[in-house]
Amino acid sequence: MSLADIDLTNADAYVPGVPHEWFSRLREEAPVYWHPDEASDNGGFWAVTSYEHCATVNRDWQTFSSMKGAVYLWDIPEAELEQQRMLMLNMDPPLHTRYRLLVNKGFTPRMVAAMEETMRERTREILDRVAEQGECDFVVDVAAELPLQVIADLMGVPQEDRHKIFDWSNRMIGGEDPEYALTEEDRAMASMELYAYSSELAAKRRLDPHQDLISVLTHAEVEGEVLTDLEIDLFFLLLAVAGNETTRNLISHGVIALHDNPVQLAKLRADRSLMGPAIDEMLRWGTPVMNFRRTATHDTELGGQAIKAGDKVVFWHISANRDASMFADPFTFDITRNPNDHMAFGSGGPHYCLGANLAKMEIRVMFEELLDRFPEFEITGDCPRLRSSFINGIKHIPLRVS
Ligand code: HEM
Repeated sequence: MSLADIDLTNADAYVPGVPHEWFSRLREEAPVYWHPDEASDNGGFWAVTSYEHCATVNRDWQTFSSMKGAVYLWDIPEAELEQQRMLMLNMDPPLHTRYRLLVNKGFTPRMVAAMEETMRERTREILDRVAEQGECDFVVDVAAELPLQVIADLMGVPQEDRHKIFDWSNRMIGGEDPEYALTEEDRAMASMELYAYSSELAAKRRLDPHQDLISVLTHAEVEGEVLTDLEIDLFFLLLAVAGNETTRNLISHGVIALHDNPVQLAKLRADRSLMGPAIDEMLRWGTPVMNFRRTATHDTELGGQAIKAGDKVVFWHISANRDASMFADPFTFDITRNPNDHMAFGSGGPHYCLGANLAKMEIRVMFEELLDRFPEFEITGDCPRLRSSFINGIKHIPLRVS
């Protein structure tokens, strides 16, 4: 295989499994590699695969902009970029800083801690249903359910409207996989419906605040400024997308990793104080978001390569998290790994995952309850993967429990 045979944009290449042999090869031979790509505006992009260089791209927002070309592997037409730039994910400081200060008010450790009890109740209900049946599709019945219910609780969406959020977020992120084949119109319609819903909810909470994020957001002020209706709608949309698929896939990868590594599972069952490091190892191992893109703001140098202003730079968390210069024995799943400075949530840049603490709590509650509830579980068939070069996704896990 020559480097020219590698095509990181080919979604089919991720169906059998993450193409780790490609990433290992790139880390060794060309950690900052000009990756030809006909679909990219200027004929390709820089594929950044080593831990060290990924961290630089993530942190140096002055050189590597999230706003210029948004943060996705695929290019977005200029007309659509305008709207994309209203999502905080696609902003640069100082605009991003102002926005982040406002939404942070709804993500304080206290607010997150207050959710634990409800989260545990919801998890038990989800697992009760599985226990009755004795088997399930773990992705659909368990891993997808909890994050969805948590986002709805967080935002203050009434129980009876839950399924709407589920439907909208699925329609917006179905993406490249034929199982969820969707048209552009489907996606546009889903986001319109979501905006309309969140505007209505925000209007209600302005008059009658509850203990929920949308009430906090409608009243939050930073230096006399408040969020506009459109900003609240867009934040709602970002949460629906950023908080669902990521956490769902992490829980799915976690259950597969424990199942496939019975010694590690036994260790965790025997010593629950290992839950913290085990979660970090699941995050390193599963890395649900495989890459993000930046755009160079000026000519610069990275890993000995000359990067020009305007070049597209894509950094791969999935590769950084298997870099042997950072992680001893990176292809071994080890719940006692220490240190474990994975970059599944980012790497200290201004966009570091806003929901990281919430996600960790969901994962912890899920695995604590799962281990308490089921002394044994067994994966009984294939676990088909999502056809995507962006999300490291598992679509189904046939699971038998006892
Ligand atoms: C295992 C679960 C999750 C993973 C792996 C994950 C991963 C990420 C990553 C890689 C980023 C970009 C970091 C950067 O560029 O520095 C990010 C940003 C973000 N995440 Fe998460 N995330 C998860 C769960 C959540 C949850 C549960 C929420 C909310 C409820 C959330 C909300 C966000 C938001 C709003 C941003 C944008 C922050 C900004 O632009 O400043 N995420 N996440």
